[in-house]
Amino acid sequence: MTLHIEPPRGWLNDPNGLCFHGGRYHAYFQYCPDDASGAGKKCWGHCVSDDLTRWSFDGIAIYPDTPFDRDGAYSGCAVSDEEGIRLFYTGNVKREGNFDYVLEGRDANVLTAFSADGLKFGEKQLLLTNSDYPDYCSRHVRDPMLFDGGKRMVLGARSVDAIGMILIYGGDASDVNSRWSFERSVSSDERFGYMWECPDIFTVGGKRLLSVSPQGILRPETGETPVSRSGYFPFPEGARSVCSEAFHEWDVGFDFYAPQTFEAPDGRRILVGWMGLPDSPYERSAGLAPTKQLLTLPREVTLEEGIVKTRPARELEGRFRDEKRRLDGESFTLDYPSALFIEPDGDFALDFDAGLRIGLCGGRLCFEFDGGGGGCGKGRGSRVIEVGEAREIELIADEISLELFVNGGETAFTTRYFPENRRVTLHGAGARVFRISI
Ligand code: FRU
Repeated sequence: MTLHIEPPRGWLNDPNGLCFHGGRYHAYFQYCPDDASGAGKKCWGHCVSDDLTRWSFDGIAIYPDTPFDRDGAYSGCAVSDEEGIRLFYTGNVKREGNFDYVLEGRDANVLTAFSADGLKFGEKQLLLTNSDYPDYCSRHVRDPMLFDGGKRMVLGARSVDAIGMILIYGGDASDVNSRWSFERSVSSDERFGYMWECPDIFTVGGKRLLSVSPQGILRPETGETPVSRSGYFPFPEGARSVCSEAFHEWDVGFDFYAPQTFEAPDGRRILVGWMGLPDSPYERSAGLAPTKQLLTLPREVTLEEGIVKTRPARELEGRFRDEKRRLDGESFTLDYPSALFIEPDGDFALDFDAGLRIGLCGGRLCFEFDGGGGGCGKGRGSRVIEVGEAREIELIADEISLELFVNGGETAFTTRYFPENRRVTLHGAGARVFRISI
């Protein structure tokens, strides 16, 4: 069993169909078992857990084996009840011919399938096809997600003019014969990327949010290079537009994309993201095939004093193996998995011998991988984040990942890294650092 959701081999991307059924948590994900570069046709892999912190791989749940999904069983969601799990996902079909596959040549089907046990799914049924989408949409329409108790479905889309948007449909997820009818599309006041992937709409602490993963946006740290990022907009009921300036990233690290949420049986909103990026420049630019692939830790989403926070699901504490042990300006080995709790009084830095410095300097958190593709960052560079007053920082380290949460999850930062040694030295007497093995 692993702390993170991960398959034993192959490529993984987006989390799909997160749900609770039969006393267990189920996490599906985009999966190419035989091709670690992700070039193969996407299946849905499946992991299960009793407690959100011990995951085991349970095989492949959905294969792209019908004419309606033959080029990939793309992302989607799940609805679960006592009877079983119903999935909704995109069947990707690329017609043969000389097409650009953006404006023509692609079928974007919404399919559904049901399973009593979460692994063996019955016949796939077709719910929506290209002719159901508005004519201002390109052929990039995908990633169905249900909301409003299964009475609405949201899809991510790209317009013919390369504007990112979502499409909202009304229907009934509990009735497989329900007709899904188009209600409206929603975009931003100013153009914000050319495609919005993996939308999700939910309420946290009474506030309704629209989570999306826009492709082709500009961020300060990448200058003029358009990138893919994931975040949310406030999204009041019935909204017809969102404000691009109000977009807030879920996680500002090097490796985070396409998150999805679900409601745990006790009402908590849990978010899981892909620990990666589309067309990730890092390992590839370093000439390395991506190695192990994983999703992020499940994170609780809360609204506290108007601030949306994400922090590791509280079940993680149940896995702490010892008491917190205080470290003083010493060198130590960061085992995995383990957690560090940092209480800064002033500036400090953690120097990883493998070639990474994480430092707090005048209200700014800095991540600096040693230059070049050869270091443990494999091409990841440096990033500086304004955090203001950092009262507490939690860092969860696993074999090839670091997930950092500032002030109980006001800011999250996720990165993959590939250390050859795990010696870390603490500089800065001001910070109290506690360590715990998981
Ligand atoms: C996001 C995404 C989705 C799509 C899936 C295909 O990473 O591009 O929009 O459904 O990946 O694997």
